[in-house]
Amino acid sequence: MDPKLAAAQKALEFVRDGMDIGLGTGSTAVHFIDGLGAKVRELGWKVRGVPTSERSRVQAQQLGIPLIDLSEVTQLDLAIDGADEADADLSLIKGGGGALLREKLVAAAAHEFIVVADSSKFKTTLGAFPLPVAIVPFGWTTTAARLEKYGVEANRRLGANASGEPYITDDGLYIIDMHFDRIEDSAELERELKSMTGVVDVGLFIGLASKLILGFEDGHTEIKLRAS
Ligand code: 5RP
Repeated sequence: MDPKLAAAQKALEFVRDGMDIGLGTGSTAVHFIDGLGAKVRELGWKVRGVPTSERSRVQAQQLGIPLIDLSEVTQLDLAIDGADEADADLSLIKGGGGALLREKLVAAAAHEFIVVADSSKFKTTLGAFPLPVAIVPFGWTTTAARLEKYGVEANRRLGANASGEPYITDDGLYIIDMHFDRIEDSAELERELKSMTGVVDVGLFIGLASKLILGFEDGHTEIKLRAS
């Protein structure tokens, strides 16, 4: 069984009729949105979704999931999203799919934020996955120069069409991928990077997730809880 599907199906057990739900982005979130669509279609559930990307919005709309804008509420009941890496504190690297800003806004607004991932995403230390940093395009080379002071490889992400054009997020931002290999203090790094002029947000999600659902090849799942 696809371990991402196993994790996403388990997450559906935490959803209740009537909830306002943040809908993540990525191949694991796709399975969750599919499952939620089935609840709406087959059981007539009256949930409302807040998609974290245009891709997720299109998928949810096609499945008939009613959608609202995040600014229509002050809190969501639940948010379900994937991750690129997660550690035992449930600190995360996210943004491999470029949606980190909306994903963080939605996770921060949720009463409960549950992460779904295949078991390979669970790490002792974060950083092997390049850390995405969303920056303002205006003067981006100057922001990139500030980021390069960390002495790690930092590349502006390119779009998918091989034309050399930059990747542009749904909010019109560029992404710099920083290759730390190993992040010793992820909370401190998030604070430092976020305080930098030109940086809008960072793909480190600290203290936001309350549960991590890991899916395995044989279809079983394991739930890790945040200690505090
Ligand atoms: C998108 C993300 C995704 O949650 C992350 O990249 C994991 O993706 P996948 O579920 O495809 O492994 O942060 O910005």
